[in-house]
Amino acid sequence: MNLAMKGVIAAGALALAGAAWAQAGSKIRTPVKWVPGQQMPVEDMKNYPCHMADEPCSRIAPPRIEKVKWGGTLGDAAKGEKIALDLRWGNCIACHSLPGGHEGGNIGPSLAEYAKRNMPLDYTFQRIWDVRAFNPNAFMPIYGPNKVLTEQEIRDVMAFLMATR
Ligand code: HEC
Repeated sequence: MNLAMKGVIAAGALALAGAAWAQAGSKIRTPVKWVPGQQMPVEDMKNYPCHMADEPCSRIAPPRIEKVKWGGTLGDAAKGEKIALDLRWGNCIACHSLPGGHEGGNIGPSLAEYAKRNMPLDYTFQRIWDVRAFNPNAFMPIYGPNKVLTEQEIRDVMAFLMATR
């Protein structure tokens, strides 16, 4: 899929979110029934903070910044690859080129050679869990506190990034 197509898909998802808003009440943070790899149920989108000043979601506070400590082991690289490439899961590919020859978006730096850079695991883990620990205005999604990825899934993605190919 080329990048232009990804843009179209992203625009479609936003339009969908807008449509959900049109009929949404302002109930805050009901449990999310999203299944990774499947489309986010549109009725749940209203439970996430947004930047649309005239919508109730703009009044939902973002989750608190979470600092995490690395310990334990990397996960399953093959699963991590799947998570990173899945547009309805990690979707790292939207902003990053990834190891294994996966060309992605260029909003973030290329991670294709990430293993070679020997970045510390605790840095990488924190960065994916909650990037705001480094920069409160960072552009990367907040994967841990927003429950997009579990700790194990981040270990899997890290195994994929750290695998030398
Ligand atoms: C919406 C775009 C976007 C998505 C999606 C995204 N990132 Fe990022 N990422 C960035 C940007 C931009 C940076 C550069 C610093 C910053 O602003 O956060 C970055 C930086 C990073 C870094 C640090 C790179 C370095 O050189 O230190 C890592 C590691 C990383 N991202 C991993 C991931 C992983 C893994 C995923 C998927 C689970 C992901 N990113 C999803 C935009 C994104």
